[in-house]
Order: sequence, then C-alpha cells, then structure tokens
Amino acid sequence: MLLQDKVAIITGGGSGMGKAMCQLFSRQGAKVVVADLNAEAAEATRQELPGDALAVAVNVADEAMVRNLVEETVRVFGRVDILANNAGVPMSFLPIEELTVERWDTIMNVNTKSIFLTSKYVVPIMKQQGGGVILNTASIASIRARPGLHAYCASKGAAVILSKALAIELAPYKIRVNAINPGPADTPMLSKFMNGDQADIERDTKEIFIDSVPLGSLISPEDIANAALYLASDMGKMVTGEVLNVDGGRGI
Ligand SMILES: NC(=O)c1ccc[n+]([C@@H]2O[C@H](COP(=O)([O-])OP(=O)(O)OC[C@H]3O[C@@H](n4cnc5c(N)ncnc54)[C@H](O)[C@@H]3O)[C@@H](O)[C@H]2O)c1
Repeated sequence: MLLQDKVAIITGGGSGMGKAMCQLFSRQGAKVVVADLNAEAAEATRQELPGDALAVAVNVADEAMVRNLVEETVRVFGRVDILANNAGVPMSFLPIEELTVERWDTIMNVNTKSIFLTSKYVVPIMKQQGGGVILNTASIASIRARPGLHAYCASKGAAVILSKALAIELAPYKIRVNAINPGPADTPMLSKFMNGDQADIERDTKEIFIDSVPLGSLISPEDIANAALYLASDMGKMVTGEVLNVDGGRGI
C-alpha cells in the first residue's frame, strides 16, 4: 500500500490514463477524487474504485470550478496530498493558417492554464500540511514536435517548463512537482490526433502510431499509471522537477 490514506485529486479521471491512475491509486490505499468534465464518466470511474472516492464535475480551465473542486475535496477528505493534472485535449493535424484563435485558446486553457489554476488552489493547502506531490501529464510532443500539432506541442511544452518552475519554487515546502511525457497511448484520445474519414481513422490509427514507437506497441493507460505511482509515492521522494518519458522510445 504505497498511498495509504493519501488524498489524491486526479483530473481527467473519467477516461484513459486518468481512469487507470484512479484505479491504481485507489488499490494502493488512496482516497481518490475523480475530477472530469464528463460527470457521468467521473461517477462511473468512482463506482469501480475499491476505496473511498468522490466524483466531481469540473472544467479544469474554469477558475470557479477548480476552486470548487479543491474545496469539495477538503470538505470531504480534509486534505490534498496528490494533485494529478491529467485532463487534456488533443488536436488533429492542421496547417497553422487554419488554426482558429478559439481552438488555440481551448488547447492552451485545458492543457496548460489548468495546471496554474489547480496549483493556485491546492498549493496553499499543501504548504499548510508540510508537503505534497503534483504530477502533470504532458506529452512526448513537448520535446519531439510533429507537423500540424503546433498548439498541442506548445501547450505540453509549457506544461513541462511550468512543472519545473513550480518544482524549484515549491521545493522548500516539500512539495514535489514532476511531469510525465506519454507517447502514443491506447486511449480514446489517440484517434482524435488523426484527420480524415472516421472508418479510415478507426482502421489505421493504431497501426500508424505503433510504427512510430521503437518498442513496437502503444503505451497502455496502466503504463502511465505505474509511472505516476512511482512519482506520487515515497518511491520517488527525492525526485522533483523531473520529466519521465513513458513513450516506448518515441522521443529518442
Ligand atoms: N492518448 C495519447 O496518445 C496521449 C499521448 C500523450 C499525452 N497524452 C495526454 O495524456 C492525458 C490523458 O489523455 P488520455 O489519452 O487518457 O485521454 P482521454 O481522452 O481518454 O481522457 C481525457 C479525459 O479528460 C477529460 N477532459 C477533457 N477536457 C477536460 C476539461 N476541460 N476539464 C476536465 N476534464 C476534461 C475528458 O472528459 C476525458 O475523460 C492528456 O493530458 C493528454 O493530452 C495523451
């Protein structure tokens, strides 16, 4: 039980990697707050968890909703030990001149501004408690840019350097901050990076992405959850400001 009685907020907990983190953290003894824009998905994840858990509907890009998420967590569980900023939105390949300002803003707000917002409300609690852990799910796209993914790459690159900036600022308070860079992962998001006819996308997506991974398979949500457990638990107690690529070698 690596997370016995720790309280963990996991955003994007309704699907994919966030759901796998909720399941693993709960099995390791954590009290889990499943936070997701999709209230039904958050509740479905909560119902499957073996330990104490709470589902909260939240848009992580909305300050008032983020404040409510943190307040609800403290009201129900009394503290916050782990904050996993994992919710994110993808983009499909698009020439820069076709990207709208609205889409740019959404990607930056959900993938990057959210980390600022959750940290703004969680850090004072962690400081008062004498420590905590923040984990940010970035992407291998933060270091290996691909054509047509400009806004997504920028949002994840910003997430990485924001993680490092917070790590150095918060180290004196024993708050560790790390990022994980997943490679192409077998979640509902993967096909949303593709353009074209839906049937083609469904047929081709996995093959195309598998070819891009030197280890020869997609990353599973559980691979990411295992890395998150290492960083969130005392196994990683001297690790901060780090970026862990869980990408099957795609970033090399
Ligand atoms: N799947 C991949 O290949 C891949 C690769 C690298 C990085 N990532 C990153 O990993 C993270 C998890 O992605 P996933 O593959 O599990 O995706 P997913 O689509 O399976 O799950 C994402 C979850 O985030 C939630 N979400 C979206 N916008 C939100 C918002 N504004 N507020 C709250 N919740 C919101 C969705 O409802 C969904 O439940 C994301 O940050 C993503 O960018 C994914």
